[in-house]
Amino acid sequence: MSFLPEILPIAREAGALLMSYFGKVVIEYKGEVDLVTEADRKAEALIVERIRSKWPTHEITGEEGTRTDSGGAYRWYIDPLDGTTNFAHGYPVFCVSIALEHKGERIAGVVYDPTRDELFAAEKGSGAELNGRKIHVSNTATLAESLIATGFPSHKRHKNPNIHFYHRITLHSHGIRRAGSAAMDLAYVACGRYDGYWEFNLNPWDTAAGVLLVEEAGGKVTGVYNTPFDIASREVVASNTILHPALLAELQSVIEGRDREELPDPRVLARPRSS
Ligand code: IPD
Ligand code: CA
Ligand code: CA
Repeated sequence: MSFLPEILPIAREAGALLMSYFGKVVIEYKGEVDLVTEADRKAEALIVERIRSKWPTHEITGEEGTRTDSGGAYRWYIDPLDGTTNFAHGYPVFCVSIALEHKGERIAGVVYDPTRDELFAAEKGSGAELNGRKIHVSNTATLAESLIATGFPSHKRHKNPNIHFYHRITLHSHGIRRAGSAAMDLAYVACGRYDGYWEFNLNPWDTAAGVLLVEEAGGKVTGVYNTPFDIASREVVASNTILHPALLAELQSVIEGRDREELPDPRVLARPRSS
């Protein structure tokens, strides 16, 4: 049974709702630094209403508070607005992320970027698509030729050690992008715009759809120690498969403190140019 024909219009509808708020939102705070807007809540309410009316027995986990647990075999993971910080600042990189799990296995995933009208979709065993056309991960063969993505958690950003990994990998690749939407980072690995991506401190609604997109597009997703990706683990390493060993090795070398390249003294930049 295919769920995509019914999920895709829901993602588009939620994306249109986000666009109707874009540029006009009032920022609120969920914690010290975690932003939320009315658009996050309205988009979640819309998606939840559509899912409940079609599949009333399905369980739902939504970032903005929807939680049901009555032992059903199906569970939806909803991030109604992934990239809230971008959205709140008028920076056009955000998306809707919706995934469906059956007995713990991801079976469908959709990431919709309403700013570019890009709809990424995957169903278990059927491949991945972007606006109806098949997508595949890149065939970049070396880290030195790769473009990699990462992200930093909005919560307690100042205590997150990811900058060490960023520093190392930026020196060994074409560069790192920190665009601010985990679901889109994964979708971009799936379609070959990025060759790899890693992040720590994520939630199931950030990764559920994007992980299936990467896997169905021929990529690989694991934890930092090459264990199978676990939705409860909060960490994710995704790649075009070819680069997976190299990306994991770079992350390991940082964890173990090997080959550390010291950060240059920032005062070097403040020195006047000699000519
Ligand atoms: C955030 C984004 C960001 C990632 C953060 C997430 P939100 O989700 O995915 O890229 O770095 O860890 O919390 O809060 O915008 O839905
Ligand atoms: Ca998110
Ligand atoms: Ca969100």
